[in-house]
Amino acid sequence: MNKNQSLLSSPALLSSRLRLSFCPRLACPSPPQASDLVIERNAACKPKPDPSTLVFGKQFSDHMLTINWSAKAGWEAPRIKPFQNLSLHPATSALHYSIELFEGMKAFRGVDNHIRMFRPMLNMARMHRSAERSSLPLFEKEELLECIKKLVEVDQEWVPFSQDASLYIRPTFIGTDPSLGVSHPSEAMIFVIVGPVGPYFSTGSFNPVSLLADPSFVRAWKGGVGAYKMGGNYGPTIAVQNEAVKRGCQQVLWLYGEQEEITEVGTMNLFIYWTNEKGEKELLTPPLDGIILPGVTRQSLLDLARTWGEFKVTERTMGMKELLGALDSGKILEVFGAGTACVVSPVGSLLYGEKKYEIPTMQNGPDLAKRFHKELTDIQYGRTASEWAPLVV
Ligand SMILES: Cc1ncc(COP(=O)(O)O)c(C=O)c1O
Repeated sequence: MNKNQSLLSSPALLSSRLRLSFCPRLACPSPPQASDLVIERNAACKPKPDPSTLVFGKQFSDHMLTINWSAKAGWEAPRIKPFQNLSLHPATSALHYSIELFEGMKAFRGVDNHIRMFRPMLNMARMHRSAERSSLPLFEKEELLECIKKLVEVDQEWVPFSQDASLYIRPTFIGTDPSLGVSHPSEAMIFVIVGPVGPYFSTGSFNPVSLLADPSFVRAWKGGVGAYKMGGNYGPTIAVQNEAVKRGCQQVLWLYGEQEEITEVGTMNLFIYWTNEKGEKELLTPPLDGIILPGVTRQSLLDLARTWGEFKVTERTMGMKELLGALDSGKILEVFGAGTACVVSPVGSLLYGEKKYEIPTMQNGPDLAKRFHKELTDIQYGRTASEWAPLVV
């Protein structure tokens, strides 16, 4: 066992201080540093908002986590400090070349008043993969998670006292080199901010979304970085989203390639529940072939469905032609997006070319989408015990 591995297996929390080890890949072979989390409490905490008034991404808590890295010094001590602006050199590489990645995860206040996260190691693993692809320094996943849990603990009053709301957690990783050279970063920073968010749908009532499917827009391509959660993947989608709204749709169904493969919907993974050519009930989602973001919710729905074993579960591509053919012959039962924001989001219609296709998701319950929503939210809010939802507080 190397030093990293032994650090991983040791308890991360040492009384009120955390022993942390981050591996500066670019500074290797120098040994990883162990350092202590430093907590500076905010003396002027803000009043917490009413959970029924929350708007996504607008409110932030009293504290943030920052961890600086440099090729020379490796990782500095992680710091939890009062929420504040960053001070960045105007040549900061994240601002010029999008050397930036992020994660999106949540903490939930359960029926027992304990706070839980949902499969957070899947987010840490995805963040680690994104860091590697961004040529940002690598870090110890378990130890970053311990820092994030500590931040949630410090800001625990910000986790809404509601089973309709949650605390959104935004880990971010940026190259901070004060240099215009297009090269791998010699300075970088992880920072984590958190804020309360409201329900996507009020309990039990799903609103189906309408989609624009226009093959002239592409979100990700083979050999590209669509499978990583980099900020550069998201900015260019906003104009397309605006186009969808202009054409009377709410979100974009991203198509890819000559077969017009259906890939993702907005910033969600896509699921189709249908009766396949063999007459079997099947849940289908596109495979992780490099153009799909490996969603935590996607993985969880696949895991649940495979555990139930009640219908076929398949990861394969489906082109628009096949989807429209199945719609015409009445084989499509439910189409829904899946992601951390909403768990599941039913799809009600599709605009392709000049034609609008109705999708009978709501007419079919949507039984499966609702079942997934209930299963996951029961776990998140502690109504069902599960190892998927580790306790934070
Ligand atoms: C492009 C894209 N697809 C899918 C997802 C869903 O991923 P998750 O379930 O991890 O939130 C997200 C959200 O992170 C996303 O940005």
